[in-house]
Amino acid sequence: MTRHRPHIVPSVLSADFGNLVHDVRTVQRAGAKSVQIDVMDGHFVPNITVGPIVVAALRKQTSIFLDVHLMIEKPWKYLDAFAKAGADLLTVHWEACPRPRQVVRHIKNLGLKAGVAIRPKTSERVLFSLLPEIDLALVMTVEPGFGGQAFMPRMLSKVQALKRRIRLQGHPCEIQVDGGINLKTAPLAAEAGATSLVAGSAVYGAPDAAEAFKKLQRSVDLPVDAQVEYPLKLR
Ligand code: DX5
Repeated sequence: MTRHRPHIVPSVLSADFGNLVHDVRTVQRAGAKSVQIDVMDGHFVPNITVGPIVVAALRKQTSIFLDVHLMIEKPWKYLDAFAKAGADLLTVHWEACPRPRQVVRHIKNLGLKAGVAIRPKTSERVLFSLLPEIDLALVMTVEPGFGGQAFMPRMLSKVQALKRRIRLQGHPCEIQVDGGINLKTAPLAAEAGATSLVAGSAVYGAPDAAEAFKKLQRSVDLPVDAQVEYPLKLR
């Protein structure tokens, strides 16, 4: 029986920013195929984190797939800078893009994988027409801005709806969930159809991040339908 193994994607938001390269290497050695870098501008979300310079520093020191989640206004202004810095995938928020299709096409033209994210209050239906062009649909299971928040189970109906739509139309598109993923909520998200689960505090908030990652990854090894290959490697 083929097994559906969603990938746990550690979010560095909860890592030690004084030892970021070390913390990324720790989860990579534990088997992580990618890490997520949460970019926040203090406008789209009430928090400020990092920019292309940190992506470039990680790119220089690590070989892991860099999944960059842009929680910023006017993300189209920064796509080239993040691509140049070495991002492998750029996810923009639908709510920040009046013309999401154009933004997605630009990301693809830069040679990167493209994702589009929706906040809790946004319906998954806004993504349906974009599915043929995107590599990843990100369903936020918390309000974007901070790690360590409680998982919003109601968001799983969006994952199920996207899974049905992707199945129906045969798009090779990841379904990623982000926010409040832990040993309890990860299996729920996987059963709903998520193929990629972002976890920050459940990994880096644990005494041993490598062990926490491995336990989380094992918790979503489910005997269901075929797994989607991830990360969609460019290199
Ligand atoms: C919210 C961030 C967080 C982060 C994961 O804006 O996007 O969801 O990646 O944080 P945890 O896993 O601690 O909820």
